[in-house]
Amino acid sequence: MSESLATVSYVGATILFILSLGGLSNPESSRRGNLYGIIGMAIAVVATVFGPRVSGGLPFIIVAMAIGGSIGLYAARKVQMTQMPELVALMHSLVGFAACTVGYATYIDTSIQFNGAEKSIHELEIYVGVLIGAITFSGSVIAFGKLSGKVSGKPLLLPGRHWINLAGLLIVIWFGGSFMHAEAGSGTFALVVMTMIALAFGVHMVMAIGGADMPVVVSMLNSYSGWAAAATGFMLSNDLLIVTGALVGSSGAILSYIMCRAMNRNFISVIAGGFGTGGGTVAAAGEQPAGEVSPISAVETAELLRESKSVIIVPGYGMAVAQAQHTVYEITRHLREKGVTVRFGIHPVAGRMPGHMNVLLAEAKVPYDIVMEMDEINDDFPATDVAMVIGANDIVNPAAQDDPNSPIAGMPVLEVWKAKTSIVMKRSMASGYAGVDNPLFYKENNRMLFGDAKKMLDEVLTALKM
Ligand code: TAP
Repeated sequence: MSESLATVSYVGATILFILSLGGLSNPESSRRGNLYGIIGMAIAVVATVFGPRVSGGLPFIIVAMAIGGSIGLYAARKVQMTQMPELVALMHSLVGFAACTVGYATYIDTSIQFNGAEKSIHELEIYVGVLIGAITFSGSVIAFGKLSGKVSGKPLLLPGRHWINLAGLLIVIWFGGSFMHAEAGSGTFALVVMTMIALAFGVHMVMAIGGADMPVVVSMLNSYSGWAAAATGFMLSNDLLIVTGALVGSSGAILSYIMCRAMNRNFISVIAGGFGTGGGTVAAAGEQPAGEVSPISAVETAELLRESKSVIIVPGYGMAVAQAQHTVYEITRHLREKGVTVRFGIHPVAGRMPGHMNVLLAEAKVPYDIVMEMDEINDDFPATDVAMVIGANDIVNPAAQDDPNSPIAGMPVLEVWKAKTSIVMKRSMASGYAGVDNPLFYKENNRMLFGDAKKMLDEVLTALKM
């Protein structure tokens, strides 16, 4: 493939990636957005593999692509929807790892010689690329551990942790200076020391972040992986990788901002860590406030729903675990046919990944126009007969508003308790992801429908149809 054809292909792929991001911003156009992304990536891969800069080793590339592609295909088929955040974290770690290895390979490669300012820029690209890549790699591995429950979600707060980070930063800068001034090829020691510190920093940074801040961590690492890819693009002088990395990096940064706003958190304090702690101590997960709860049966729930004029359904992580979205849709359809107004209230951090609930509801074919964002629907709860909470907990916790000492104090929540009756569907009195108490369960107008969400909703649907 000629240089100019490769360039044209890269421009085409860039446009498709931008269209893809635009499409993904709305549930209605997201499938199209995804398709643009797939086509863009296919063009990018073909243009790179057959482009002018790959002169040999095609069989190796094809074998590597076949192995990687098979693993990807297997993972995509096997992974459960609830495990997606873990998979995404793992993929971010691969981007970081790639940036590191490309950095080292570029440094060791003596076939291209730079002089003067060009040499300095090239070495700076390598140093920064490896730095971002190593932080992304180790941070993502820990995030994977936390999201999959292999590493405790409680924040690890080392004494003097900010000083440790500052010391690490100063050492990285100092070794950066010696790396830049080293004779060609003799800066490997500085590069290795920096890599070790960056790896330790990535581990320390994510370990210090409490379970409740994980949504921000996922989007933040998404952003880092973009910058790592952009840095790789600089090292390889690949314009498409620079643009794509910058797109991912900036969209991840915007997502982090949205997540922080949804949780009323300041980005810097998220990075500083410690959320999920009260007064410097780690909040006891599963601790429950004392009080009486009023249980309700599936048949009684069906009766309440049948008699309602308006219903708001608030789905959470439990709906994803139970895979109850299809039954939720059936109930919605049935109630709407009977003239009940049914809408959905979606919290920005419901579930375990951005847009988790929207994806599940779209999969179950719930119409987009009845799926509302938290800000759009929160004022409507007082005029609602039944607010049905399906496997959600933290996102409907009134302590966020009422208890200034709660670890989630200040996080905007869906005010389901303002409805005439709220029904919470979950299996037990266990706490949610943030491990904090939920006083909603003990409110006078709240009923608890205990059991697996799918099983209980099936029973509700059967009772509704009787
Ligand atoms: P959670 O607060 O985690 O509560 C989910 C509830 O679902 C649990 O209390 C659990 O109670 C219940 N549940 C689990 N399996 C169930 C089943 N099969 N049937 C019925 N109920 C079931 O979820 P949420 O309200 O969606 O809030 C999300 C939380 O995750 C927030 O704290 C958020 O910060 C965090 N988080 C979000 C993200 C993103 S990006 N969205 C990423 C990481 C973390 P039982 O065990 O009693 O059934």
